[in-house]
Amino acid sequence: MKLILLGPPGAGKGTQCKRIVDKYSMAHLSSGDILRAERKANSELGQKAQSYMDSGALVPDELIIDMMIGAIKKAPAGYVLDGFPRTIAQGEGLDAALEKAGEKIDGIVNLQVPDEPIMARMTGRRSCPVCGAVYHIENLKPKVDGQCDKGCGELVQRKDDMPEVVSCRLKTYHEQTAAVIGYYQRNDNNIIDIDANQDIDRVTADIFSKLDALNG
Ligand code: AP5
Repeated sequence: MKLILLGPPGAGKGTQCKRIVDKYSMAHLSSGDILRAERKANSELGQKAQSYMDSGALVPDELIIDMMIGAIKKAPAGYVLDGFPRTIAQGEGLDAALEKAGEKIDGIVNLQVPDEPIMARMTGRRSCPVCGAVYHIENLKPKVDGQCDKGCGELVQRKDDMPEVVSCRLKTYHEQTAAVIGYYQRNDNNIIDIDANQDIDRVTADIFSKLDALNG
């Protein structure tokens, strides 16, 4: 299957993608994770992305489109796109690349959450810098406080999860990314709306039930 997962910051895209790829054996292509890896490696792309990410702004489309099309080419058996596309220009760039390759997206999972719960989700998030596992200090606690369950070591708080940056990311989402859903609606894609303002396991069950039907 080839899927896109859309939703505001903190909707649970990363959390749910990890469960989707485990069940359906697909690649997890997260634009945010790829950018953070580039930053860690201090690559040219990572250096260019740094100031945008730290302020909650979007990294320029031309950098993102090339990066994500490159990742898609390495996952011919199926993937779920997490955090991409985030602008209509990115959606158009993706469509052009898919058309050229004679491929199409099977479904677009749209995680719907109002703004109110987002701040608590983001400020309480803790991530493993080694394996990428995501926890929450209240909603999804690690077995040992502050430590990754997989034995990787200490969990960290993302710099862009500070309240002032979260506010900017939400603003960016409403101004630039929410329109991507309309773009896909207009282009007759298979959009799967999911109420993501419920318990994490309930959200997973709703997604799996829709994807099982899609997968035949
Ligand atoms: P990115 O890393 O993609 O951030 P994001 O989209 O803002 O999404 P998050 O990773 O913050 O949230 P999520 O939806 O994955 O939620 P999670 O599962 O972790 O992007 C970071 C930056 O990179 C951007 O700001 C931008 O600068 C740049 N960038 C990335 N892609 C780009 C692009 N395409 N174009 C341009 N720039 C780009 O969950 C959050 C927390 O909530 C966790 O603690 C989790 O345990 C908890 N939680 C999850 N689900 C629930 C639930 N149902 N109930 C309660 N708690 C929950």
